[in-house]
Amino acid sequence: MSANIAKRRLDYQRATYQVQQIELEFELHPTATRVLAVSQLQRHVVGADTLWLDGQQLTLVSLQVNGVEWSQKTQNDDGILLSGLPEQFELKVRTVLDPAANSALEGLYLSNGAYCTQCEAEGFRRITFYPDRPDVMAVFTTHIIANDSIPFLLSNGNLIAKHQLADGRVRVSWHDPFPKPSYLFALVAGDFDELCGDFVTQSGRQVALKFYVDKGQGAKATFALEALKRAMRFDEEVYGLEYDLDIYMVVAVDFFNMGAMENKGLNVFNSKFVLADAATATDTDYFNIESIIAHEYFHNWTGNRVTCRDWFQLSLKEGLTVFRDQQFSAAMGSATLCRIDAVKTIRTAQFAEDASPMAHPIRPDVVEEMNNFYTVTVYDKGAEVIRMQHTLLGAEGFRRGMDLYFQRHDGQAVTCDDFLAAMQDANQVDLGQFSLWYSQSGTPELTAKLEQTSTGVQLHLQQQTPATADQPNKQPVLLPLRYELHDANGRIETGILQCSGAQQVFCFDGLKMPVVPVLLADFSAPVKLNYAYQTDELLYLCQHAHDGVARWDAMQQLWSDLVRQSVQQQQIATIPAQMLDVLRQFIQQPLADLAFTAELLTLPGYDTLAEQYAEIPVEMILSALEHYQQQLAETFAADWLALYQRLLPVPYVYTEQQVGLRALRNTALRYLLRCNNTPASLWQQQYTEADNMTDKLAVLQGLVRAGHAETSRMLQQFLQQHGDNVQLFDKHSALVASIGDNSVFGLMDMVAQTALFDWKNPNRVRALYAVFGQQNPAMFHQADGEGYQRLTSVIAKADSINPQLASRLVTPLLSFRRFAPKRQALMRQALEQLSQQQLSPDLSEKLGKALHG
Ligand code: TRP
Ligand code: ZN
Repeated sequence: MSANIAKRRLDYQRATYQVQQIELEFELHPTATRVLAVSQLQRHVVGADTLWLDGQQLTLVSLQVNGVEWSQKTQNDDGILLSGLPEQFELKVRTVLDPAANSALEGLYLSNGAYCTQCEAEGFRRITFYPDRPDVMAVFTTHIIANDSIPFLLSNGNLIAKHQLADGRVRVSWHDPFPKPSYLFALVAGDFDELCGDFVTQSGRQVALKFYVDKGQGAKATFALEALKRAMRFDEEVYGLEYDLDIYMVVAVDFFNMGAMENKGLNVFNSKFVLADAATATDTDYFNIESIIAHEYFHNWTGNRVTCRDWFQLSLKEGLTVFRDQQFSAAMGSATLCRIDAVKTIRTAQFAEDASPMAHPIRPDVVEEMNNFYTVTVYDKGAEVIRMQHTLLGAEGFRRGMDLYFQRHDGQAVTCDDFLAAMQDANQVDLGQFSLWYSQSGTPELTAKLEQTSTGVQLHLQQQTPATADQPNKQPVLLPLRYELHDANGRIETGILQCSGAQQVFCFDGLKMPVVPVLLADFSAPVKLNYAYQTDELLYLCQHAHDGVARWDAMQQLWSDLVRQSVQQQQIATIPAQMLDVLRQFIQQPLADLAFTAELLTLPGYDTLAEQYAEIPVEMILSALEHYQQQLAETFAADWLALYQRLLPVPYVYTEQQVGLRALRNTALRYLLRCNNTPASLWQQQYTEADNMTDKLAVLQGLVRAGHAETSRMLQQFLQQHGDNVQLFDKHSALVASIGDNSVFGLMDMVAQTALFDWKNPNRVRALYAVFGQQNPAMFHQADGEGYQRLTSVIAKADSINPQLASRLVTPLLSFRRFAPKRQALMRQALEQLSQQQLSPDLSEKLGKALHG
């Protein structure tokens, strides 16, 4: 059992020494790579003569200080403490690593035969002994020695030398002039297809863009390359930020723990977020590729040029960079649709995290395993917190703050407080109360009421944040409330209020009740809103609100009200006739924005609804959703068909218009697949004639969700046709994992036994089991606990291979306290069984909190 040590934000201490320069030399070998690290260090804390070097799972060959083997050292499993050190010295460390045995995918590992590194957050310590903390920033030079059979030997910065050694091996050298923390180091070596492009910056500098992907896949990187250029242009135009090296490289690998990594000048990507063509990628895949390419590019300034002082500050770079990639995606397509996507993430995964044993502020205070804090709270709630600053200060004020932030901190490792200070000072505002968003976890709940007065209308607001697992007491936070007030005389008032009190009243003179309010237009704050809307008010808003997000939200609210009534009455509530009328109208006369219309015609998901209950009524939510979807399908059968037939497919291009067309057409298809009298030829024709994966997959998804009799035959056919392509193999796995009946267990076992399935590849495991745990509530929560048992046995297996992967899979089980006693007991039992085993620090931290927190 590993005894985890909790680290605290407030215990921060400066590094005793800074590293000015480091020169690394790798002699690559699959099982015995030799690493020589020569660093120049300089005392940084007066009087200190000790230095902690992190190092894990390394074989130490030698360690010298100024050319002398250093004996004043003590070593444990996590590193070495050096003492008696001079003011300045050269540290020379030789280590040996075994990349082939590295299944954790942290440090140096092999992905399909290519060498690859992943150092964030604390992976560099698996390469050499080093002060592996982000506030130690050094200039890196990297030499790579390998057989000449490996054509591409890559590292950060610019290529400075390449020659053949006497023994026939090749030695290449890279130099990165920008000082950086060790987590941004990268090395890649392998044989790839190379796709080249170029970009001229606004100041006229030429940048070479290079993508490295599996042999034969080069053409599939074209979209990502073009997306990169769009992102580079965007950052110049919106923030005045230019790229700073002569070369920008992106490598796509199959074995990867997350989406992508922003290593300076050498991004490494999960191949699923680079490779795309119409035959293998869906519209959603294209969207994700563009946004992740942009995200990693934007890190060059928000993350790399200005980095984090310590890992508690992770949201400094991640929240800000997610906000920037969201701005970019909104500019590339439909801003409303992007916003709806982000709102769904907050209302599902983030609200769930805040209500779970893992609750933490966007800037956590206590961390055992840093990898556990790359969370939807740090990333996505973090982005909401940046967005609120943007809303409060306005686009220009926000830009002033960004400019000052870079002016002050370029080349530094800083804190979230430094960011806030820049925003504050550039705008002469006081963000003191606002800063609670960084330190306080939990989801604020806002209750609103309207009242008529002699002069107008009053808005009464109450704010309250329930206790979370990590913090019992909460204070009111400052939040921007974007509103629209539609009054009885047809007057519409819009604006932004600053809510800051536990109770507050705002007056709107001249308005006359009844007033229909939009509160939180564009989801202006990541909170839950309670307002006693009448059905007809929500129906009015979903047609007449100015803000698109508010229109969608009103429709979502109508559905969640119906589900709530059903839960209360223990019987499915009837859909009001006027609501059906409005829905019919949207089907018969789609709005100009087809993708938006599709969202209006889609019910909230199980997980959005689940987050609205203290104790989650699993069965009632699921049966109400099933019932309402079936009712919409049958009530509007003829309208769905007419809509479907009107939206004719066009030769595939990824454009906003086409994405909308396919989204609405496939929404109609989803309902049609639930109607008995829909002829099989309709969906079969779409499946066989589609020139793209979006439309093909929509058929299969529709069959799975409708529980259609042809599902398993079609899934098998898909696997036979496409199962040799890993991206499509994963799509098949995800479809199997979403099957809503008992056959899912046997079918998942079969997938896990096919030749392409690989327990060491996180994409394979996630496509099957993360999808099962997170997107198949009916079977995951099956009353006998089978789903829980399945997931925990997978987690146990994954943990011995890849702790990061296992730790992410456990999320849906951690919330067991949210369920009725019987189910809760089964979930807890599954977790307790898991905790009997030898677990990674990653899983122990989470299980410890869930079971004993
Ligand atoms: N910094 C990366 C991003 O946000 C994500 C990241 C953190 C990561 N740790 C990782 C990626 C480990 C892969 C593996 O873009
Ligand atoms: Zn990031």
